[in-house]
Amino acid sequence: MPASSGQPDIAGQRAAAVPSSLAPDGLGALRHLLASDEDLTRLAAAWGRSPVLLSASEAATRLVTFGDIETWINAGNLRTGQIELVLDGQHPPGGIFGDRNFYGRKRTGYVDPAKVQASLARGATLELYTIEDWHAGSARLCRALALALRAQVHAFVFLSRLGRGGRKVHRDAGHTFVIQMAGSKIWEVFDGLPDKDNGSPAPIDKTRVGTEQIYYVPVGSPHRALADSKYSLHVTLSITEPPLRALVTAWAGSFTSAFRQTQWISGSREQRLAEVQDWTEKMIASLRGHSPEELLDRMENEWIEPKADWISLE
Ligand SMILES: [Fe+2]
Repeated sequence: MPASSGQPDIAGQRAAAVPSSLAPDGLGALRHLLASDEDLTRLAAAWGRSPVLLSASEAATRLVTFGDIETWINAGNLRTGQIELVLDGQHPPGGIFGDRNFYGRKRTGYVDPAKVQASLARGATLELYTIEDWHAGSARLCRALALALRAQVHAFVFLSRLGRGGRKVHRDAGHTFVIQMAGSKIWEVFDGLPDKDNGSPAPIDKTRVGTEQIYYVPVGSPHRALADSKYSLHVTLSITEPPLRALVTAWAGSFTSAFRQTQWISGSREQRLAEVQDWTEKMIASLRGHSPEELLDRMENEWIEPKADWISLE
C-alpha cells in the first residue's frame, strides 16, 4: 500500500482548450488530471460515446491515499450515507455502525472501525460517498470541475480485494471518470443490462485499469469492475449533466416564486377547469417571457454541485 502523502492541490487550475466540439465546453478542466494533451483529445473524442483508457497525471493519483482512508475510518466520524461495505451485493452481517462515547455522552450511528476491518477481511468492498463533503482535495477538485462543466461532480472511493467489486452490472446517472490510485481493476462495459431470459450480454469493452491510469465510462453505459490485484483503490468522479427535468424545475421555480402560499385551484370541476385554463395561458406567457440564456443559467445554477467553495479560515 502506498504511504499517505499531503493533500494535492489539483483544483482551480486553468482549463485547457477544448479539443473537440463534441465535448462539453469545460472538458479542458479535466486536463490536469490527465498525463498529456493527447489524453484530453482522446477523452474529448470518447465523451458521451465510448469507454476509453487514459494516463493519469501525478496529481490525480495523489488525490486520495490509503492513509487518508485509514484516518477517516479510525476517526469514526462517518455515518450512514457516507460509508458502505458491500459483499456480493449485500451489506455484510453485523453492520458497520455502532455507538460512540463523547466524554460520557453516548451517541449512536457512527462507523465502528473494528466492524469495518472485519467486513473487509470477509472480502467486502469499502465504498465512500461524496468524500468532497469532508476531504479538502476532493472538495476543491469537485467544485472547480462543477463550475467548469456546469454539472454535478461528486467523488466516491472504492476499495476492493482481489476478485471482488462493489456493485453488479449497473448504470449510473453520470459520466464515470475513474482514477486508479493503487492496484488494478478489470472493467467491463456492456451494451445492455442482464435480464432473466438472456443472462448477461457480452461486454463491448473489457479493460484492465492499472495504477496511474484513468478509465472513462460514458453516462448510461452498463458496467461492473472487479479487483485484479491484492487490493484495488480507485476514486470515481461522477459527472452528471442537468437532466430535462432540471430545466422544467428551474422554470417552474421562477414561475411559482411569485405565488402566495395560499393560492388554490379551488371550487367545482368547472371552476377548477377555468382556473387551469387561465393558469395555462399564464404559464405559456411566462415561458415565452424567458430567454433560453436566462433559463439555462437558472437551471445550471440550481443544478451544479458542490454548491459552495471549500472555505478557508485564514
Ligand atoms: Fe458505476
